[in-house]
Amino acid sequence: MKKNFPLAKVYSLLEPGPVILVSSAWKGRLNVMPMSWHTMIDFDPPLVGCVISGRNHSFGMIRASKECVINIPDVSIARETVACGNVSGARVDKFAKFGLTPEKAALVKAPLIKECWASLECRLHDARMAARYDLLVFKVVKAWVDPARKAPATLHHRGGEEFMVAGRRLKIRSAKA
Ligand SMILES: Cc1cc2nc3c(=O)[nH]c(=O)nc-3n(C[C@H](O)[C@H](O)[C@H](O)COP(=O)(O)O)c2cc1C
Repeated sequence: MKKNFPLAKVYSLLEPGPVILVSSAWKGRLNVMPMSWHTMIDFDPPLVGCVISGRNHSFGMIRASKECVINIPDVSIARETVACGNVSGARVDKFAKFGLTPEKAALVKAPLIKECWASLECRLHDARMAARYDLLVFKVVKAWVDPARKAPATLHHRGGEEFMVAGRRLKIRSAKA
């Protein structure tokens, strides 16, 4: 039997994964924040919608530079990933503090994060819903994936302090009529 569920916790049922590390660069400073409220919007060119609160330092850096990199960590850097969400880049160099290594991207100034198994260089595509929903739509202009990491154990936010690690994989044949 299903029971009433608090509306304020609905996000924990639908929250997409994986948790990503969004890196940014502006005026010679680098920053990084974890985020989990993202969604694919289109295949090719790949468009990704990200809810990035205007209260976060990253928001201003991304709005000003119109760029970011979406880095995908796995469980091996779960603690560092989450720790980046407990401090503002306005005060702290999170790359130095949490032992993350910035690497030069090909098309944007925001850095790739070496420790992440995938990095997506993004340009801000549409900010028309930022004022109302903090929703920024990015176009992925270059994607990097480590081919040696076949089944990365990504981190998925279950709400609050709870996370889930991606596990068993299934292949289901699509039998098109
Ligand atoms: C697992 C996790 C997921 C998060 N998801 C989001 C998100 O989707 N959007 C957002 O604005 N902040 C999110 N945050 C909060 C930011 O990461 C946090 O406010 C961070 O300190 C912002 O850093 P900055 O001020 O240096 O940009 C999340 C934090 C954690 C730990």
